[in-house]
Amino acid sequence: MASNLLKGKKGLIFGALNEQSIAWKVAERAVEEGARIVLTNTAVSIRMGTIGELAEKCDTIVVPADATSVADLENLVDRTMEHFGGRFDFMLHSIGMSPNVRKGRTYDDLDYDYLAKTLDISAISFHKAIQVVRKKDALNDWGSIVALSYIAAQRTLYGYNDMADAKALLESIARSFGYIYGREKHVRINTVSQSPTPTTAGKGVLGMGDLMEFAENMSPLGNASAEDCANYVLTLFSDFTRKVTMQNLYHDGGFSSMGMSRRAMHTYEKGLRFEDVHQNQYPFGKGGE
Ligand SMILES: NC(=O)c1ccc[n+]([C@@H]2O[C@H](COP(=O)([O-])OP(=O)(O)OC[C@H]3O[C@@H](n4cnc5c(N)ncnc54)[C@H](O)[C@@H]3O)[C@@H](O)[C@H]2O)c1
Repeated sequence: MASNLLKGKKGLIFGALNEQSIAWKVAERAVEEGARIVLTNTAVSIRMGTIGELAEKCDTIVVPADATSVADLENLVDRTMEHFGGRFDFMLHSIGMSPNVRKGRTYDDLDYDYLAKTLDISAISFHKAIQVVRKKDALNDWGSIVALSYIAAQRTLYGYNDMADAKALLESIARSFGYIYGREKHVRINTVSQSPTPTTAGKGVLGMGDLMEFAENMSPLGNASAEDCANYVLTLFSDFTRKVTMQNLYHDGGFSSMGMSRRAMHTYEKGLRFEDVHQNQYPFGKGGE
């Protein structure tokens, strides 16, 4: 379904670890839509994951960079501009990690060194990447920057832990820098608040399976997949969204506007699963419940 949406555009994509990664899907689809890209991840993730295969498929390079290191980011942006022979048009921040989540530290028993790392990796790295790109004047006029967020920035969701605080900060950075970069160079900055998605980072969230099922039951359109997310992000890199900036954009099948759905209600009725209670009673399927 390629339609050359990004023909002639060039972009830098953070965070493709493996085929499940949202950034992986964005990279693939961006190239299908006519863009040229540069990929980046940490040296460890490049070794542990399969980003090399993606680079081959997308006919591009992978530049190692720890997104918390300004020196690494400066080198990354220089090498990206070298590769493109000048400025580029879009940047995707698709990075998240919480040592507290990884080590099983609950929100009422946080390790504060870990919390500092969570915030640095998952949110402040977004500020650092934008600041480096702006100081080097690396983006073209009317460029577009997107980071991935989650609704735990606005609502409390059990198990999301200190990543909720990181996402709140991430969304705030999009607004604060969106004003500066927009006023100066018409560069827009938005966050996309995505459904729970079965990726390496996603699977690290406590109770991810149940959370995905709950969100699926609550959302009239069902959960958005990584592929759906990639398609939405591409529209934000395209020229069709030039006046959209400083927004947190929900991409969640309608979840964020729901209070309670009939489907979710049935799921919890008498402690039985929806499927067990209402099998064969819905001739038009469960999608509308
Ligand atoms: N999976 C979900 O349920 C979900 C939902 C909403 C938002 N998101 C967000 O989407 C983004 C991408 O995550 P994903 O689900 O594709 O998982 P993923 O595990 O595939 O991607 C996370 C990436 O962050 C990278 N990363 C970690 N530390 C880094 C550092 N210091 N420097 C540079 N990169 C670093 C990892 O190497 C990895 O590639 C994250 O911001 C995540 O919070 C995910």
